[in-house]
Amino acid sequence: MEEMLTFALAKGRLAEQTFDLLENLGIDCSQPRNPGRQLVLRDEKTNIRFILVKPSDVPTYVEHGVADLGVVGKDTLLEAERPLYELLDLGFGRCRLCVAGYPDAPGATVSHATFRVATKYPAIARRWWAAQGKPIEIIELHGSVELGPVIGLSDVILDIVESGSTLRANGLTVLEEVAGDISARLVCNRVSLKTKRERIRWIIEGLERQVLAGAGEK
Ligand code: PRP
Repeated sequence: MEEMLTFALAKGRLAEQTFDLLENLGIDCSQPRNPGRQLVLRDEKTNIRFILVKPSDVPTYVEHGVADLGVVGKDTLLEAERPLYELLDLGFGRCRLCVAGYPDAPGATVSHATFRVATKYPAIARRWWAAQGKPIEIIELHGSVELGPVIGLSDVILDIVESGSTLRANGLTVLEEVAGDISARLVCNRVSLKTKRERIRWIIEGLERQVLAGAGEK
């Protein structure tokens, strides 16, 4: 029996695209594709387990070593600042991390005493404006962040922009790009990389072949 490997995957589209790649390596992903209420899913033949979790929890499971590998967006990794090995850019889930707001009145949409930033990424926001020496107030939201400037809660947002259609539909525009190379990344626990070297190398090489062949481009 092969040594067990555990994957933590961000629920949703990133997980679905990861299954496409893993199935090409002969890993049966039928259980995690249809998990029902079950939280730990398996492929008995290759002895691989999957846990499907919220994106922001993927780095936590991998850092603690209860998952050997994880697939998560670079945005989540930049926010989490965990000591993980980032092994591979999987090429899908491509987007940009941007500051956005009203085009004509950046920073002046509402008259708050402090410049207000609505975001799902408070740590990234803190670092970005600290580097510019600009004091800000962070308003942490967990979705529909674009509402911030629209409804007068914040001056700008810091969020991911994929097609740009959410910004356009709400009269907002990109003001600054914080990171242009956001995409899904394969990450690994530091100890697992040593103790399960051969198994993990098989996964890395199998995924890398497909990425180089353009399988992840979408
Ligand atoms: C993300 C992001 C933007 C939107 C960007 O939200 O927070 O709102 O997608 O995509 P676009 O540029 O293609 O319009 P998500 O769909 O994950 O939902 P959320 O607002 O609930 O976080």
